[in-house]
Amino acid sequence: MIMNILVTGANGQLGNEMRIVTKGAKDKYIFTDICDEHPESIEMLHKLDGDDIDTSTTKLDITNLDAIRKMVKVNDVKVVVNCAAWTNVDGAEDPEKYDLVELLNAKAPENLAIAMKEVGGLLVHISTDYVFGGDPYNTPCKEDQKGTPTGVYGLTKLHGEQNIQNTGVDHLIFRTAWLYSEFGKNFVKTMLKLTATKPQLKVVFDQVGTPTYAYDLAKAIFEIIEQRKYERKTGIYHYSNEGVCSWFDFTKMIAEYSGQIACDIQPCHSDEFPSPVKRPFFSVLDKTKVKDAYGIKIPYWTFSLKKCVINIK
Ligand SMILES: NC(=O)c1ccc[n+]([C@@H]2O[C@H](COP(=O)([O-])OP(=O)(O)OC[C@H]3O[C@@H](n4cnc5c(N)ncnc54)[C@H](OP(=O)(O)O)[C@@H]3O)[C@@H](O)[C@H]2O)c1
Repeated sequence: MIMNILVTGANGQLGNEMRIVTKGAKDKYIFTDICDEHPESIEMLHKLDGDDIDTSTTKLDITNLDAIRKMVKVNDVKVVVNCAAWTNVDGAEDPEKYDLVELLNAKAPENLAIAMKEVGGLLVHISTDYVFGGDPYNTPCKEDQKGTPTGVYGLTKLHGEQNIQNTGVDHLIFRTAWLYSEFGKNFVKTMLKLTATKPQLKVVFDQVGTPTYAYDLAKAIFEIIEQRKYERKTGIYHYSNEGVCSWFDFTKMIAEYSGQIACDIQPCHSDEFPSPVKRPFFSVLDKTKVKDAYGIKIPYWTFSLKKCVINIK
């Protein structure tokens, strides 16, 4: 049976990759966001995937439950893929922004869960490795490890997960990490600019994790939905690319793949870059569960990074 699938936050990094991976899908995807698509993203979508890629955006504010219910009813939606969130980790620490961050990262996912529960549908939601970090650890985090966020972003994302679970809706929550893509603002694009313009650069080496190419995560989500693999397997899953690196190693590979090797990149400690939020020093996700449940193959981080850097360049 063909399903109608709603993608929220479709004009962000993951949302735009969902546009690419769902091209030619048997199901019907409806791309929604609170804002219009950015002209530079439309240009990139055409560059990467030709003129027939769907760049249209239907307006939907996921903080508005009535609007979600209406959209679900009018379009007979059976699955929602929620790519919308407050993603500015430092900005979330502004006390004046707390209510807004909680609304978007915790209440809005609950709205989507309520709407899907009412029609017996599935909510696919994205969370983060920043739900961990408060307790020191040096082994990859499993799905059932207790959440110990160190900042407002991680805390509100944890509340979002809990709110979804409490509705009893069928759900897949993918916790991911260090997301980058050809779209919007991200670490790869920032470092591409800096390594091209600065003779020297210091990057922290005492925070390690795993970069995730948003395209790979979008593809995994798409395959699970397309093959209806999620039936009877709802729950929380970890997904990042394979491998482990520091932000310093990540930057070195960005420079190498872009050919910008004139910049002298040196490792430094986190305390040289004071930040409003304490980030986890070891933030590696264990992906055994998602691989066992869905039989998906996850690309190694350098392999995917190279592809993305080539696309951007
Ligand atoms: N980025 C990372 O490093 C990272 C790491 C781990 C997990 N994640 C998670 O992965 C998911 C995708 O992240 P991303 O980097 O693709 O996010 P993103 O690029 O920031 O995109 C989020 C999209 O949601 C839109 N949005 C904001 N408020 C909305 C509302 N009320 N209703 C509907 N849409 C709204 C945003 O519009 P505006 O731009 O106009 O606000 C934006 O287009 C998020 O759940 C995030 O928490 C991200």
